[in-house]
Amino acid sequence: MSDTPLLCVRGLTKRFGGLVAVKDIGFDIRPGEILGLIGPNGSGKSTVMKLIMGIERPNAGSVKVNGVEMAGWAPHRIARAGVGIVFQHSRPLHRQTVLEHIKLALLPDSLVKLAAEPHVHRRAQEIASRVGLAAVMHRHPATLPFADLRRMEMAKAIARDPQVVLVDEPFAGLTVAESEAFSELIRGFRAEGRAVLLVDHNVKSLSALADRVLAMYLGEHVAEGTAEQVMQNETVRRVYLGSKLELRQRTGAAGIARPTILEVTGVRVLYDKACALDDVSLQVREGEFVSVVGLNGAGKTTLFNALSGLVPYKGTIRFDGRDLRGSSGAAIARAGLVQCPETRELFGDMTVRENLELGGYHLADTVRAKQLSWLFDLFPILKSRQGQTARTLSGGEQQMLAIARALMTQPKLLILDEPTLGLAPVILEQLSKALDSLQKSTPITVLLGEQNVRFALPQADRVYVLEHARIIWEGSASRFEAEMGRGFLEAVPTGEPDATTSGDARS
Ligand SMILES: Nc1ncnc2c1ncn2[C@@H]1O[C@H](COP(=O)(O)OP(=O)(O)OP(=O)(O)O)[C@@H](O)[C@H]1O
Ligand SMILES: [Mg+2]
Repeated sequence: MSDTPLLCVRGLTKRFGGLVAVKDIGFDIRPGEILGLIGPNGSGKSTVMKLIMGIERPNAGSVKVNGVEMAGWAPHRIARAGVGIVFQHSRPLHRQTVLEHIKLALLPDSLVKLAAEPHVHRRAQEIASRVGLAAVMHRHPATLPFADLRRMEMAKAIARDPQVVLVDEPFAGLTVAESEAFSELIRGFRAEGRAVLLVDHNVKSLSALADRVLAMYLGEHVAEGTAEQVMQNETVRRVYLGSKLELRQRTGAAGIARPTILEVTGVRVLYDKACALDDVSLQVREGEFVSVVGLNGAGKTTLFNALSGLVPYKGTIRFDGRDLRGSSGAAIARAGLVQCPETRELFGDMTVRENLELGGYHLADTVRAKQLSWLFDLFPILKSRQGQTARTLSGGEQQMLAIARALMTQPKLLILDEPTLGLAPVILEQLSKALDSLQKSTPITVLLGEQNVRFALPQADRVYVLEHARIIWEGSASRFEAEMGRGFLEAVPTGEPDATTSGDARS
């Protein structure tokens, strides 16, 4: 590792109206070094990356790459000077295949016509193989599972061959094994002498990779050092890590006497010729909390979309005493089955408050106001951002808004599809407590889909495991740990901090 910094940031500051999103942030990253950047949702991490990349213009501060001042430059100039970014969310082009995406990234803007050259083709294939996309490189991104889309973003970054790589939440939504594969790629960046700035809420994976960690809170620097030192920091523990999620003390009697609210029998979904759900049956009783656990691609989202009337299926789905076949998605939602989708589907041009009010449009004014104030207590950040347009919220803030909007509808059955995506550990803890108190005070039923079992288990009365389109196991959360835990938690060594839910073991 060389001692001269490749990336040198000083006094970086960004204001959005009255909000100081980034305040006087400074750090150096040397070649072959990984700096981890952590902090609660909305603390300014993605903004720091956008400022370095030139996507947002800093109000003050200096960004030097190899000694050259770049603050205020346009993004394409900064990219050409050797800075690359792997975004939190990908927006692939629809007509190009995976390989074509990589080829485009290999060439400077003016040389696109060279894409047919054999060496470009070969190099693109090499990169596709390196990131694990060899088998799907001729497909269009729209047909790819989530993890492969993230791989494609990584491949594009590698193709551009940047000296400084900014990686925003590479592990969000990935399983333990997929995260390990991504960690390997990022270690590759280090081995090649690149300077890496890495943001993620998966504290365990980030700590394992980062040479140093910097923590931010409300736009400001709060701690810096080794991962261990930073995780011990009082402020970091309080505002970011929180405490361990505990297995809820369930009486077990909760659901037994209650009627079944959701009855799924022999449901089958085909996409083209692929079977996305195969003979799936499950029951949920009123007031129960049921988790459907499964790795990416197992079929959770397909199941929820079938329940919500968004994909055609064979078999029977009965909700609240009626057969849902033939009902539109809107009718199903009005009947009280409400899904908070993985993709969030917020109205980007509307404000936080408008999104929420739309969720509660059918409620009487007084009820709506009460519900709104309860949700603002639950997610104080949404309260302070009432007037902000949804698309400018941070990743985690958008996730909170999507959950809040679903709750605003006062559903009978709330379906949460991967709600933990992009949320800071401390917010997971709050969400867990909120769902618990919600269930104590209202008759709500919850169906949760997660690959993060460390969030899914503590809440659940019962757990279903979905694997390769089929339900392969059903039981209580405590039996899950004994019987199924291994397969799901294998890559998490005992005695280590939780993968994504908290940094408890450091306490
Ligand atoms: N264009 C904008 N207008 C107003 N506020 C903005 C804008 N862009 C970002 N913000 C606010 O700036 C703050 C920092 O956002 P940023 O995306 O950097 O957070 P983050 O640390 O990456 O959070 P997360 O962990 O949730 O991704 C957030 O509160 C966000 O709502
Ligand atoms: Mg972010």
